Amino acid sequence: MKLTVVLLALVAQVFSLENGLMRTPPMGWLAWERYRCNINCKEDPYNCISEQLFMDMADWLVEDGWRDLGYDYVNIDDCWMTERDKNGVLVADPERFPHGIKYLADYVHARSLKLGIYADMGKKTCMGYPGTTLDKVELDAETFANWTVDMLKLDGCYSFAKDRAKGYPAMSAALNATGRPIAYSCSWPAYDGGLPPEVNYTLLMNICNLWRNYDDIQDSWQSVLSIVDWYTKNQDLLQSVAGPGHWNDPDMLLIGNYGLSFEQAKAQMALWTIFAAPLFMSTDLRVMTPQNKDILQNKLMIKINQDPLGIQGRRVVTTEDDIEVFIRPLSKEARAIVFFSRRTDMPYRYTTSFSALNFTDTMVYEAEDVYTENIISGLKADTQFTVVINPSGVVMWYVYPIVNLQVPQAKKKFSWS
Ligand code: GLA
Repeated sequence: MKLTVVLLALVAQVFSLENGLMRTPPMGWLAWERYRCNINCKEDPYNCISEQLFMDMADWLVEDGWRDLGYDYVNIDDCWMTERDKNGVLVADPERFPHGIKYLADYVHARSLKLGIYADMGKKTCMGYPGTTLDKVELDAETFANWTVDMLKLDGCYSFAKDRAKGYPAMSAALNATGRPIAYSCSWPAYDGGLPPEVNYTLLMNICNLWRNYDDIQDSWQSVLSIVDWYTKNQDLLQSVAGPGHWNDPDMLLIGNYGLSFEQAKAQMALWTIFAAPLFMSTDLRVMTPQNKDILQNKLMIKINQDPLGIQGRRVVTTEDDIEVFIRPLSKEARAIVFFSRRTDMPYRYTTSFSALNFTDTMVYEAEDVYTENIISGLKADTQFTVVINPSGVVMWYVYPIVNLQVPQAKKKFSWS
């Protein structure tokens, strides 16, 4: 019995991610979706993967109010490296990152931002740069800590399942061993089909702060829909594994790029918030339109995304008319509701009530429309209301109780059953 306890304690020590980070979903900027592996700094100096790009984005995060709203990570993705040096240490491309990564970390820290970096648990990164094979895990963790990096995305290209099974936990332990709090984003599940039995989510929750479990997002509505479909199809599982310190990552926000309409951009933001997803923008902050900025800087949206309970929401209704309803439970007995239209014709008038949406309590509610800021008062469980949802768009409500009709009886808690 004693031995079992000691062994369990040891296992917990080896596998648990005791970094205390990301109690709410991380927010920030990540290079990949918008800037890919553009290393052509000669012809495209403002858009190539270089220290200048990350310094620019850091400046914009501060100057345009992003940081103060919570968007505080500046994250490098693939294509920052050159070959390892003679001691095996990773090296940033000297032409594109002439001052090295420590300089960039100092630059972002001076602006109260955090720096994220990218590596790959395999022979090579997805774009062919040096990988972090098992023998390099500790060295690379130490290098990142020496550079005062704050987050690592560990990709999984060019790896075998058995190496991933050793390497991802080993990197978690190696990051912990550096003594520097480094948030850890694991692409591991995405390389093993995203589902049990191949993917062990109990282990992931203990060793990673977030994980990619599905395909890369591309700059299109179709790509957003395919991710939403996978997340809803597997929502029982995904909802149960998300929480403070450990999040499902449906990939970056496309808002500000080329593939989404205004309605679709609002829909991605709302759905990602329902999913308690990390909010990593991947767009050119230097040329953002006021409309897109309004979506990404919506304070109530961010408050909902960052709700301290950290419960991932789920789809609760689908209709034959291609209307879906998603709900996320929030602290203080509030909820976020997203009414989502997959229609392609015209604004749709959807009539429902809270009891039809399985609210099991009997309070009077108020709802604030997250995008229009309109307040709808005096809603009881059986009050019929109508929302008008644009094609491939959303209406999003923040709903909170005003009066408990059952006083003095104990309040009934909302439940999923
Ligand atoms: C994979 C990842 C992407 C990105 C690229 C970089 O495809 O899933 O998010 O990091 O590699 O090459």
